[in-house]
Amino acid sequence: MTDRSPSTWFVTGASSGIGLALARATAGRGDRVAALARDVSVLAPLADQHDDRVLALRADVRRPAEVDAAVARAMEVFGRLDVVADNAGYGLFGAVEESTDEQARAVFDTNVFGLLHVLRATLPVLRAQRGGHVLQGSSYYGRVAHAGVGLLAATKYAVEGLTEALVGEVEPLGIRVTLVEPGPTATAFGANLQVAATIGDYDPTVREVQRAIAALPPEASNGPDRVAAAILTAVDPDRPPRRLVTGSYAVQEIRAALQAQLDELEAWSGTAAAVDGAAAA
Ligand SMILES: NC(=O)c1ccc[n+]([C@@H]2O[C@H](COP(=O)([O-])OP(=O)(O)OC[C@H]3O[C@@H](n4cnc5c(N)ncnc54)[C@H](OP(=O)(O)O)[C@@H]3O)[C@@H](O)[C@H]2O)c1
Repeated sequence: MTDRSPSTWFVTGASSGIGLALARATAGRGDRVAALARDVSVLAPLADQHDDRVLALRADVRRPAEVDAAVARAMEVFGRLDVVADNAGYGLFGAVEESTDEQARAVFDTNVFGLLHVLRATLPVLRAQRGGHVLQGSSYYGRVAHAGVGLLAATKYAVEGLTEALVGEVEPLGIRVTLVEPGPTATAFGANLQVAATIGDYDPTVREVQRAIAALPPEASNGPDRVAAAILTAVDPDRPPRRLVTGSYAVQEIRAALQAQLDELEAWSGTAAAVDGAAAA
């Protein structure tokens, strides 16, 4: 234990995986946590263990009224919010063309609009406090994408884009923002993954990637408790990272993608510069 004063957390997607690990870790170190889940019965053991510090709240992030009610209840009980972990989300696998409109909209509803509902509900509290830290649920798929993860990556890239702008808007108000970009993590993410219908032409790419991912040994995925511990280290310092990547695999993938982008930017910079100048009359 350190001599820091306890913080109050608001964690979405706390029924399993990284969100549950984060709720456990925060309560375990003496913080208070409003833990949101669609099925709060899953949180009963944690709430029983720390009954004064864990508030289990039912909310589906796709429903703004439920998120608003959860924020109101958390404020009633705890009186403030220090860290908002906008973590709820799920994956969709399949070629871009294979994903139905319904599947594509559904994954945006949770991963992007759900996150937006949580921001809209919690930012007024953080603004009034002139302080707080928002942890935006992204992924290494918010920085890189390969065959089969197009729609999932689209949601995470959307989160990255809106967050880049959000930083400039809320940092002057004393609110810190960190994008959490986990690499492969051993959670219920795989079990909750939606899979699009298959078109044979994508078997050599999308299905091959899917097979390769399924064949990865368990040790290729990091434990959610370790990811939660990394998140705690990023929340406490005075200058938290803009992006927190977890796992060496994700670091390697992101580094390679950034380098490739930079190389291509340089290679084509002459063409880019050739269009400088006013429009021809
Ligand atoms: N695991 C990975 O490899 C990995 C890698 C990069 C990023 N991530 C990201 O990490 C975050 C957490 O995922 P996880 O790996 O911990 O997976 P998980 O074990 O499946 O947890 C996802 C959580 O999100 C909740 N959720 C989904 N839809 C929701 C909704 N509409 N309303 C409220 N809650 C909802 C789930 O609740 P229910 O139990 O009610 O479904 C669950 O608590 C996600 O944003 C995911 O994209 C995961």
